Amino acid sequence: MEKIIKYIESNKDRYLEELKDFLRIPSISNEEAHKADVVKAAVWLENHLKGIGLDNVKVFETEGHPIVYADWLKAGNNVPTVLVYGHYDVQPVDPLELWTDPPFEPVVKGSKIYARGSADDKGQIFIHIKSLEAHLKNNGKLPINVKVIFEGEEEIGSENLHKFIEVQKDMLKSDYVVISDTSMYTDNLPSICYGLRGLCFMQIDLVGPNRDLHSGSFGGGVNNPINVLAEMINKLKDDKGKILIDGFYDDVEKLTDNERAEFKRLPFDEKEYMKDLEVEELFGEEGYTTVERVSARPTLDCNGIWGGYQGQGAKTVLPSVAGAKVSMRLVPNQDPDKIAELFEKYINKIAPKSVKMKVTSLHGGKPSVTAIDTPAIKAAVDSLKKGFGVDPVFFKEGGSIPIVNSFKEVLGADGILLGFGLPDDNIHSPNEKFDLNNFYKGISTVAYYYEELSKIK
Ligand code: BES
Ligand code: ZN
Repeated sequence: MEKIIKYIESNKDRYLEELKDFLRIPSISNEEAHKADVVKAAVWLENHLKGIGLDNVKVFETEGHPIVYADWLKAGNNVPTVLVYGHYDVQPVDPLELWTDPPFEPVVKGSKIYARGSADDKGQIFIHIKSLEAHLKNNGKLPINVKVIFEGEEEIGSENLHKFIEVQKDMLKSDYVVISDTSMYTDNLPSICYGLRGLCFMQIDLVGPNRDLHSGSFGGGVNNPINVLAEMINKLKDDKGKILIDGFYDDVEKLTDNERAEFKRLPFDEKEYMKDLEVEELFGEEGYTTVERVSARPTLDCNGIWGGYQGQGAKTVLPSVAGAKVSMRLVPNQDPDKIAELFEKYINKIAPKSVKMKVTSLHGGKPSVTAIDTPAIKAAVDSLKKGFGVDPVFFKEGGSIPIVNSFKEVLGADGILLGFGLPDDNIHSPNEKFDLNNFYKGISTVAYYYEELSKIK
């Protein structure tokens, strides 16, 4: 291992330049205009994976964006086979004017690299690629069998990967799935994420009168879809943060006293949190701490809302249409399809006759949890300790990576989530960044991890 760690140390600058190349590709998955760029990122990965010495490198076409696969399976039957998963697609960059530097022209300032995708998830998949390279270039082999799969649709729901893993079950069969697409709990605190929330994403469209109307001539005569929408949204939650959709909490797994005690031990400073966000007060479900509310309890949030005049100045219009996007984060045992049904039923119940309404389910994903008493988690603890010099903490992440549940259901493989991002990396926001110290420590950690995993079968 010493040789490998030295190799990582002496190749740092090259690693960084390569990462910058990867980050220059604007692989935004939800914008048609960037379809070719998403393909470009897949081909870039294909070439890179060939270059480091992986076998069977292949780009699989799908109905959406491509899936990149490669493997190295010569370590024999006495060691585990690990699937390394990540995504090379990135979020859109708007609002562009809030970026200090252009999102696809990576710049290093201090220890941070700024670019869209730097933390989510290109920088983190590159950690694995460079660890594999360090093993292969120094030893000509890997300590375990490895399959890698990188998708271009994580940010839009992984629809084609869900289908792909059903069809390619045999090719993807593995003992564990290792994923770096989450964050560390705080800086200098290596972390293992053992739970992810699920997601149910809905859209409400309302139509009132058949055309926009003069609000003087018609105001008072017909209901206004924006007013109706506001009232409906207001009925989704009470003022104590409890979600009012009938049956919403029916399947929610209760938090155990033990888990709640563990959450209390996480280093969380409410004052710092408020200061960072520049808010005077926090809000969330009554009876739960902030740590619990943002990771282990379900939520409902409006993500977008529209209707009427939004331009400069005033326009006296009574709009014909209004709409909103509403997402719910789900916790173990909740099923996104069932929640979508309950949502639609409730919305129908509270909608007045004065508007026509359409409720659409956009996408969803199941929550996931990893049992923390498995040997692969123990090996992760040891590796993080070696890579960072500190004992890691366990926590649940509020975000979602829906494919993790499918890996478990379809392949029977537990997800091991080693996140190297930081909570303030601005993922999905302007000025996304990634800490290069964690990038390099991550590469060493993962190199140790592959070695540690070879001892557990
Ligand atoms: N990397 C994130 C998941 C994540 C979010 C990790 C927050 C750590 C903190 C992932 O790329 C993501 O954003 N997922 C989406 C999934 C959705 C589109 C199905 C999410 O959580 O919104
Ligand atoms: Zn991500």
